[in-house]
Parts: sequence; C-alpha cells; structure tokens
Amino acid sequence: MRLMDKAAIVVGAGQTPGHAIGNGRATAILFAREGARVLLVDRDLASADETRVLIEREGGTASTFRADVTVDSQCKAVVDACVERFGRIDVLHNNVGIGAGDQSITEVSEEAFVRILNVNLKGPFSMCRHAIPVMRAQKSGVITNISSIAAVAATTTLTAYRASKAALNALTQNIAIDNAAYGIRANAIMPGLIDTPMAIEGNAKRLNIDKQELIEQRGKRVPMGHMGSAWDVAYAALFLASDEAKFITGVLLPVDGGQSCRVG
Ligand SMILES: NC(=O)c1ccc[n+]([C@@H]2O[C@H](COP(=O)([O-])OP(=O)(O)OC[C@H]3O[C@@H](n4cnc5c(N)ncnc54)[C@H](O)[C@@H]3O)[C@@H](O)[C@H]2O)c1
Repeated sequence: MRLMDKAAIVVGAGQTPGHAIGNGRATAILFAREGARVLLVDRDLASADETRVLIEREGGTASTFRADVTVDSQCKAVVDACVERFGRIDVLHNNVGIGAGDQSITEVSEEAFVRILNVNLKGPFSMCRHAIPVMRAQKSGVITNISSIAAVAATTTLTAYRASKAALNALTQNIAIDNAAYGIRANAIMPGLIDTPMAIEGNAKRLNIDKQELIEQRGKRVPMGHMGSAWDVAYAALFLASDEAKFITGVLLPVDGGQSCRVG
C-alpha cells in the first residue's frame, strides 16, 4: 500500500493491442494495487475501460476519461476531472508516446516530425502546466514523464522521437527546479528495449519480420540478454511516485538492463 489514499492520473492508460501488457496499463494496475485511486486517461476510451475492468476485478478504484494529449483544453479537462472525482492530484504519470512515421533526418516527413513532437513533448507540457497549479496549492505532487534511452543515445531512424524525448528530459528537469519549493517532484523514466505491443507488434509490421524473431533480436542488444517488461517500468514509476522517493527530483532514470551505459 505504497500509494495509499493517493489520487493518480495515468495518461495513456490503455494500450496498443498485442501479445504483452503496455507500460501505461501495467503502471495503472500497479498504482491501484498499491492503494491509489487512478484516473485512466486515453484517447481510446475502450482501451482505458479495459484497464479499468482489470483494476476493478482486483478490488481497486479507477475511473476513465477520454482525452487527446495534443489538445490543450482536453488536458485541462483531465485535471478538472481528477479534482472533481478524487479531490486532489498526488501523481501525474505521463506515459503517452509515439514513434510511428519516424525516419532519418533526410527521410522523415515534416508532418511526422511535428506529429511526434506534438504528442511526445507538447502532450506532457500541457498536462503538467494544468496539473501544477493544483499541486502547488496542495504543496505536494509527483510528476513522472515516460521518456526513453533514445533521448541519450542516437539511433539514425529515430530523429523526431529522440528529439522529443531529449526535450522531455529537459522539460522534466525544468519543472523539477521550478517547483521544488512547492513540494512538487518531477522525474523521467527512460525505458530501454521493453517487450510491449507498441514496440513489438508495431516494429514487426514495419520491418516485415516475425514477432518472435524481433523479440530475440532485441533481447540480444541488451547487456542483461533480454528485454524488460512493462512491469519493470511500472515498478520504477511506483517507487518514484511513492513517499520512499521524497528526496528524489530532476532524475532521468534508465530502466534498460544496462543498455545505455554500454560502450561498444
Ligand atoms: N516499449 C518500449 O520499448 C519503449 C521504450 C522506450 C520508451 N517507451 C515509451 O513508453 C511509452 C508507451 O508505452 P506503452 O507500451 O504503454 O504504449 P501503448 O501504445 O501500449 O500505450 C499508449 C497509450 O497511449 C494512447 N495514446 C496515443 N496517443 C495518444 C494521444 N494523443 N492522447 C491520448 N492518448 C494517446 C494510446 O491509445 C495507448 O493506449 C511511450 O512514451 C514510449 O515512448 C517505450
């Protein structure tokens, strides 16, 4: 019960359909297991509802809200809904991130570049700017942004994705510094290669290879020899959201099986 009585927003709490659980869904379930009331936000309401059913089956408390993070007024509506339903916002977890359409600098279209930055960077920006006044009034709150180790290590085909996540890291640290005096903490988690539908189903289709083959290929790139799971990201998020991390802010935490510290 590490989040007992806390009110949490998980943005991107549904998931891309596929063989494994996604980062947002696993985090929402874990937060609820640890005692939080969770507002499950997604542009795909049916998918957020699936997460709600999973939580309620375990006896947890959750409710859903449809919003597209690229629309600032909808982000404000998320914040208002959380205050209306739960009375406060203790945790804001920004999980939404996309990479579809990304390419090397000469290949990526302007449309894809703008779309990826809009979702991955402007989305969390909008959520944070509306949630922070509520947290400041409470004199407490935790923000966790889901970044990526792509932010700190170049991959030629991830031009927009990398730029968006690197900027998200910078935004997170700015928020941390600007709000530390208000009792608000802000950190980013940088997942490495995680076995989620977005990564496997999406890329297997794009690369036109078998899913199992992709899982093996990705596993070999990790020093620990296998990909992480969404639960690995969720447990890091739980720690950062809990009072155990009360002196931790401005941190960019890799959850990557050692991948980002390997040279060669
Ligand atoms: N899987 C990996 O290997 C990996 C690695 C590094 C970082 N990440 C990061 O993890 C996060 C997502 O992981 P996931 O597995 O939960 O993905 P997911 O696709 O399963 O879930 C994301 C959810 O976000 C929702 N969404 C997409 N665009 C939205 C929008 N504009 N507004 C509201 N909701 C929207 C989708 O409907 C989906 O339910 C992303 O930020 C991604 O960059 C993943």
